[in-house]
Amino acid sequence: MSKNKRVLVTGHAGFIGSHLTKKLLDLGFNVTGVDNYNDFYSPEIKKANVAAFGNHSNFKEYKLDILDLPKLERCFAVSKPEIIIHLAARAGVRPSLKNPQLYHDVNVNGTKNLLDLAKKYQVKQFIFASSSSIYGNQTKVPFSETDKLGQPVSPYAQTKLAAEKLCRDSELPVTILRFFTVYGPAGRPDMAPYLFTQAILAGQPIIRYGDGSTKRDYTYIDDIVSGIIAALNRPLAYEIINLGNNQPVSLKDFIAAIETLTGKKAKIVAKPRHPADVPLTYADISKAKKLLGWQPTTDLKTGLTKFIDWYVSPAFKVCP
Ligand SMILES: NC(=O)c1ccc[n+]([C@@H]2O[C@H](COP(=O)([O-])OP(=O)(O)OC[C@H]3O[C@@H](n4cnc5c(N)ncnc54)[C@H](O)[C@@H]3O)[C@@H](O)[C@H]2O)c1
Repeated sequence: MSKNKRVLVTGHAGFIGSHLTKKLLDLGFNVTGVDNYNDFYSPEIKKANVAAFGNHSNFKEYKLDILDLPKLERCFAVSKPEIIIHLAARAGVRPSLKNPQLYHDVNVNGTKNLLDLAKKYQVKQFIFASSSSIYGNQTKVPFSETDKLGQPVSPYAQTKLAAEKLCRDSELPVTILRFFTVYGPAGRPDMAPYLFTQAILAGQPIIRYGDGSTKRDYTYIDDIVSGIIAALNRPLAYEIINLGNNQPVSLKDFIAAIETLTGKKAKIVAKPRHPADVPLTYADISKAKKLLGWQPTTDLKTGLTKFIDWYVSPAFKVCP
């Protein structure tokens, strides 16, 4: 384990970034975090995420926008990162339809800024957070890294695909990790696990797009963090690797699982399938097993139980 190394995490205040940063600090890494605390969801949630590690002696935070190249460069000059884990992005498939330009700016141009500085400052390893959404409406399952990709079905997916290409063209040592629907404590408030749990517990209706047959390969946050750390410990010249649970679950079954765990019935309002929603995500994880020695260990029931325990816990006081 490569302890004491200097790691720069972008998006450290977000859902995945905050879990990852805490783990890296626990493992003895020196972490610099870069985040602009934007209001895609409440910045108060991001502050609460960072409270868990913000005072750690091996952590330093830069509140800045990755599009602000001069400030970003000053951060590189001071922190001299050896490894970059680039998570900062405008996330979310559906909201990307409303503001495609912003998604392009942050997810593509922001990634370019980081790659350019990584080159200039001779960073040894670059890990990029991509997404299962780039597989689009693919019907061949499970989704493999070697599959020929069709047209992305959302601006968000387009930006991730474009950023992957920038990574490939950079000629830096890059590991691209394609995450499949990540959930768990401190999960994003715009995502189904949070929205459904919130509404079901409050006796409010939930909106279900489609007939409930769409499937997602829900992957627990600790498994994603262990996958990122496995990638960090095994630098590769250039690889794309899926990190998913390899166990797709239908929306109907997902809602039923929350009903069982909360002991409450959902009030479902059915709407037509959303145009940006793909019918299925399903990760082939054989490459992650082979190259990273990684495999997920958290089943949906265990992961959702932990998520709901967090949601109802007194420690979770921040509301969006
Ligand atoms: N959560 C998932 O299911 C999932 C699935 C696939 C891929 N991903 C990718 O993983 C990464 C992390 O996702 P997340 O779910 O933690 O999202 P998140 O929104 O919780 O975290 C992203 C963080 O990046 C920061 N950020 C956004 N734009 C920025 C900018 N211009 N400058 C500086 N900071 C900025 C935000 O403030 C936020 O704290 C993203 O790249 C996302 O696309 C997430």
